[in-house]
Amino acid sequence: MEIKACLFDLDGVIVDTAKYHFLAWKELAADLGFDFTEEHNERLKGVSRMASLDILLEIGGETYTKEEKEEMAKSKNERYVSLIQKMTPDEILPGIIHFMNEIKNAGIKTAIGSASKNAPLIIERLKLETYFDAIIDGNKVSNAKPDPEVFLKGAEALGVQPSECVVFEDAAAGVEAALNGNMKCIGIGEKHVLGKADKVIPGFENFSLGKLLMI
Ligand code: BG6
Ligand code: MG
Repeated sequence: MEIKACLFDLDGVIVDTAKYHFLAWKELAADLGFDFTEEHNERLKGVSRMASLDILLEIGGETYTKEEKEEMAKSKNERYVSLIQKMTPDEILPGIIHFMNEIKNAGIKTAIGSASKNAPLIIERLKLETYFDAIIDGNKVSNAKPDPEVFLKGAEALGVQPSECVVFEDAAAGVEAALNGNMKCIGIGEKHVLGKADKVIPGFENFSLGKLLMI
């Protein structure tokens, strides 16, 4: 295959924002009177904001009206944004910058494909704006992963075919989204979670363009 573009999920691939989502959800749960654990938080990876809230409320065991839920999602997001506003480029995960430079120098196009509506703010805080040719985020898609929409829109924005793209994903639903879009996928994390990916790596530290070309 000729690789013309790399599409990156953001949360859990470029930066570990799960810890900030966790703190913000945990505070909301505490306000509602129940505990929210790190194990619970695992279930929210790659899941949209409202779907995450539904999972959290299911753990709490109470039901709420649509208006109440919208208010809760708003207040969680305000807490989350106050945390991510303090992020710095030091939080970019190891190996990312080196890998991005390698692929950019090789003429490979790059895009973000994220469920997060906060993706542009995170990219700005990490000073990564110049590394991505397109950003497709939660504001631009109507179908959540495993629907391939976010990655298909990324390919379209870059002017490449899906079959010429490789997706980097840390969530099982994201791996499925890539495969559903007829793209290759490299899972970032553990094989038992991301087994459907074409290859699974623990992170970018020992990864390179040479290894990418071998998939
Ligand atoms: C995904 C995260 O990238 O974005 C999820 O993995 C998160 O945990 C989702 O819920 C939506 O993010 P946001 O920033 O729009 O609330
Ligand atoms: Mg992710």
